[in-house]
Parts: sequence; structure tokens; C-alpha cells
Amino acid sequence: MFVQVAPSILSADFAALGRAVEELTSAGADLIHVDVMDGRFVPNLTIGPPIIAALREHTNLPLDVHLMIEEPARFITDYRKAGADIITVHMEACTHLQRTVTMIRDLGAEAGVALNPATPEETLKYIYDDIDVVLVMSVNPGFGGQSFISSSVRKVANIRKSLNDAGRRAVQIEVDGGVTAGNAPNLVTAGAGILVAGSYIFSAPTLNEGIRSLRIK
Ligand code: DX5
Ligand code: ZN
Repeated sequence: MFVQVAPSILSADFAALGRAVEELTSAGADLIHVDVMDGRFVPNLTIGPPIIAALREHTNLPLDVHLMIEEPARFITDYRKAGADIITVHMEACTHLQRTVTMIRDLGAEAGVALNPATPEETLKYIYDDIDVVLVMSVNPGFGGQSFISSSVRKVANIRKSLNDAGRRAVQIEVDGGVTAGNAPNLVTAGAGILVAGSYIFSAPTLNEGIRSLRIK
């Protein structure tokens, strides 16, 4: 089964992010996952548009930007201008989610919606036509290196079925948090099309082995 691997640079050396992105590109990554945190939606702070614009010069791979920020609509234009190809916002952070995802698409990017582990997926079905990616968080967002929450597999399967029933097979399901070669096969079988992994890939013997081991079933 084919799955795309999106290494998270949250686990890279922040003093050498450009090099990390180049190394991940040569190591066979499909996308580069960039975790943006605002210190409010999640209890951690990371990077903003200027760093993403700088990283844009170091790879031709799609930049998959995961916004863990309150009211993301305020900054979507900035992230798109910085070079984001996929912009994912959290359902919990958007009062007017349909407007926000439409704005992302109008800017020419793919629109993703992320769900925290305790957020039910049912309400998403009303905007299936307006999104390209559903990001299932399999840890509570904020930090790399946390343990995988196993109920996420069931959630992926439920969303896959619901998307397929709605005729939206093209919408990708992305899983983020605690992903390893141990849980990847179950996630792919459940319907995940993109796996994000940070600590697992960066602690593998080589980046290439880390990425490859997530693809093998
Ligand atoms: C968590 C981030 C993840 C994280 C994944 O808030 O959204 O992308 O970096 O890291 P690992 O794979 O270490 O759980
Ligand atoms: Zn992420």
C-alpha cells in the first residue's frame, strides 16, 4: 500500500534547519512537515513565516504547514506567501472553519483540517467538499516525542469510510504524533495516506532508513 512520508522538522536541529530540509529531501521524504505553535493553542512556541520562507529555498518538496495557533485565519496569507503548499488549521481553533478552509484554497494552497485526539470527526462531513486533507492528531499537539494514542487508528478508519461514502476518496488522511514503523501498517490499513514522523525518523540510524521503514508493510 502506498503512503507518503512527511518528516516533521520539529525534531531537527533548529540551528541548522536549512540543512535538515536538504537532508530529508535527499533521504526520500515526500513532504516536509512544519509545526507552527503560538504558545496559546498549544503550550509551546516554534517558528513563523520568515523561517518558512527561508526553508522554501532549500527544497522543492511540498511544505506541509501545520498551524497549531489560535484564529489561524489572521496569518494564512502570510504562510501562503512564505511558500506553504498545504496549510492545515485546527478545527478547535476556528469558529468559522468553512470560511477559513475556503480562504486557504482561494490562495492556491491545499486546505487541511486537524483534529485533536478528543475531537469527534462527525461535524467535518459538512465541509468535505471544501478540504483536501484531514489531519488526525495521534498525540495532544505541542511537543514531539510523545506516545501514540491507539484510538487514533479507529478514528482514521471512521473518517476514511465516511469520506469514501461521500464520494471524497481524493481527500487524504494524514496522521501526526508518535508514528513509528510499529503503528504505521495499522494506520495505512485504516486508510492513512500521509504519515508524519519526527522523533522516529530523526532517531533512526539514518534519515533514509527511518523514512523507508515507515513505507514497508
Ligand atoms: C506535535 C506535532 C507533530 C510532532 C510529531 O504537536 O504536530 O508534528 O512533531 O513528532 P513525533 O513524531 O515525535 O511525535
Ligand atoms: Zn504536526
